[in-house]
Amino acid sequence: MDRLKIHDKYFVPYISHADISAAIDKLAARMNNDFRNSDRAPVFLCILNGSIVFTGELMQRLDFPLELSSVRVSSYSGVTSTGVLNTVVGLNSNMEGRTVVIVEDIVDTGKTIRFLHDHVLERGAAEVRVCTLLCKRDVYDGDVPLDYVAIDVENKFLVGFGLDYDQFGRNTEDIYILEDNQ
Ligand code: IMP
Ligand code: MG
Repeated sequence: MDRLKIHDKYFVPYISHADISAAIDKLAARMNNDFRNSDRAPVFLCILNGSIVFTGELMQRLDFPLELSSVRVSSYSGVTSTGVLNTVVGLNSNMEGRTVVIVEDIVDTGKTIRFLHDHVLERGAAEVRVCTLLCKRDVYDGDVPLDYVAIDVENKFLVGFGLDYDQFGRNTEDIYILEDNQ
């Protein structure tokens, strides 16, 4: 693992792929235990694009029937960011009466999961659970329970393993952190 340059910034190694894999193993074991005897297959909701890599790794470790759906949450109205999340693109599964597991790459303020959580319940889901690879505990002040958290992280900007800095840096197997003094 080396220092990484993306656009104008430098990032240094933070979580190795081996540690990420071990944390996902543990999380998957818990989920397998919780969902093994479900009457009806849950819907896993991958939040594009950040969660693609994590969702792919997680799914391979799950041994119960599940459905996969992917969504993009947008804060855009036309070409201008409103700063308010208001659009869900690509939600095509039937949510009625289902358990929906939101799969997020990282929970920061929690606005994204709050919005999706409410949206999915409005679509008739019976229950929503939240699963995230990373969680910035010190920042998150939401009241949506975080049921499955793989790794708690400090409040600094991270890239890699799906997470981006201005759309780049998603394609690394380790996770990097913004170097100090930037
Ligand atoms: P929240 O809505 O504030 O919880 O933000 C969650 C979203 O912001 C995540 O889905 C990420 O796309 C993005 N995000 C938050 N923190 C980071 C970070 O450290 N690196 C890259 N993306 C981040
Ligand atoms: Mg995201």
